[in-house]
Amino acid sequence: MSALTELYDNIAVCPDCDLSRSRNRTVPGEGPDDAEIMFVGEAPGFYEDQQGRPFVGAAGRFLEELLTSIGLRRDQVYIANVIKCRPPDNRDPLPKEIEACRKWLECQIDLIKPKIIVPLGRFSLAWFSPNDPIGRVHGQASYRDGIYYLPMYHPAAALHAGNMRRAIEEDFQKLPATLEEARKGPKEEVPEPEQMRLF
Ligand code: URA
Repeated sequence: MSALTELYDNIAVCPDCDLSRSRNRTVPGEGPDDAEIMFVGEAPGFYEDQQGRPFVGAAGRFLEELLTSIGLRRDQVYIANVIKCRPPDNRDPLPKEIEACRKWLECQIDLIKPKIIVPLGRFSLAWFSPNDPIGRVHGQASYRDGIYYLPMYHPAAALHAGNMRRAIEEDFQKLPATLEEARKGPKEEVPEPEQMRLF
């Protein structure tokens, strides 16, 4: 059994917050265990909770369109969420739910070792970088501890909002160059947050 499959088995029986009582299925994430790019959304919605797979509704179709626009297929990237169970009525995840679930995403990142993480939306961005507002840092690559971060608006929010939609479409076009940069290997760390921005 692969380490990732074992992780999914552990997530499937996780009792660590109240969402374990209302969920139909856990949604651990999916993709190759050596994916170079990891997308991290917020939380499973209705269809994800039914199917046990991330981003299978309208937001997922939009995400696939965006991937196609840069010549990638969904099965070439890893897709996860900050929390692995659906909040009732798709409400925002609570801080205690995010904390109870923290270990699973940490473990996924350790196992997959992505070169780039794309936080999708403000909850995901806050998980990685609590002080950065998504409206300011979306589309700006930064580098920390061997990983490039390229935050973007959440596809569900961007889908029907003209400005955000254009922004996420443009931000996606920065992924290939960021990947090329990331493939060159580890960079020297620059400690000052202001100096971390690359593009
Ligand atoms: N929105 C998310 O953040 N994650 C999903 O899996 C689906 C919709």
